[in-house]
Amino acid sequence: MQTPLKSTLLKNRIAVVTGASAGIGEAIAREIVSHGGPTVLNARREARLHELIGELGPEDITAVAGDASSESVIERMLDVARHTFGAGHRDADLVVVNAGRGLNGSVMTSDTAQWEEMVRTNLLGAARLIRAAGLRMLKVVPDAEINQKGAWLKSPRDIIVIGSTVGRNVSPFSSMYGATKFGVHGLVEGARRELGPKGIRVTLIEPAFVRSEFQGVAGYDPKWIEGVWERIGPVLEPADIARMVSFIAGQPAGVHVSDILVRPTRQDYP
Ligand SMILES: NC(=O)c1ccc[n+]([C@@H]2O[C@H](COP(=O)([O-])OP(=O)(O)OC[C@H]3O[C@@H](n4cnc5c(N)ncnc54)[C@H](OP(=O)(O)O)[C@@H]3O)[C@@H](O)[C@H]2O)c1
Repeated sequence: MQTPLKSTLLKNRIAVVTGASAGIGEAIAREIVSHGGPTVLNARREARLHELIGELGPEDITAVAGDASSESVIERMLDVARHTFGAGHRDADLVVVNAGRGLNGSVMTSDTAQWEEMVRTNLLGAARLIRAAGLRMLKVVPDAEINQKGAWLKSPRDIIVIGSTVGRNVSPFSSMYGATKFGVHGLVEGARRELGPKGIRVTLIEPAFVRSEFQGVAGYDPKWIEGVWERIGPVLEPADIARMVSFIAGQPAGVHVSDILVRPTRQDYP
């Protein structure tokens, strides 16, 4: 894949992206780096992260490998962002909560052995990272200064969370996975109401079908998924979602695009 042209849209930001070894997270990392933003990548497959760093150039990009739902890994990602790119005193101000996985089937038919990992990754991991990043972002502009004209407008801070169309519409084929995304949507809206008045944008992106490793990990029948692709294609590519991230984070701090739902044009439902 070609490295995109460098622009400087996000060069004064410090980014953290979870689930950056594949699919949407990898594309988001590429997008942010192409806009000049220093980035900490996270995923469990460390070698994949280092391959990406090798390709994009190591100056403005580093990795913290590990489970994104673990509190200690989350603190390490945020510490590395602060010390590597924030000179020890500035925290990450563009945090993308993306790590997640799907699961074929409903509450009646899906593999119960995978429930705990999915709920931990999709829901608890998202909640822990929103909280940890939010706590650090809150310190940037003290409460006492939030009403002072312009103070917070100089410090755009974003937490961008990847939800799903199946977190809004009950999925006919993966309702157990969808239930985790309904939970994620609730978390995001709650955090938006809590942190928005303090100048922090908490944003939900709700993608529909995106071609990635997701379908294999979820255990969808390859023939079935090919049939879906044919019926609704072309489906979305990870880069289509990544563009939304620079669009959201690139807005002036006083403008919040708080929710984007994006489907392939021919996908009717979910
Ligand atoms: N593809 C779709 O159709 C679609 C639609 C709507 C929403 N989404 C959401 O978009 C997000 C990304 O999905 P994708 O399509 O890019 O899937 P993907 O290609 O399977 O990529 C998932 C990424 O998450 C990482 N990951 C999984 N569990 C992790 C954990 N416990 N800790 C750290 N990293 C972890 C994986 O890396 P490692 O295996 O190396 O850890 C990988 O980098 C997910 O939240 C998914 O629910 C996807």
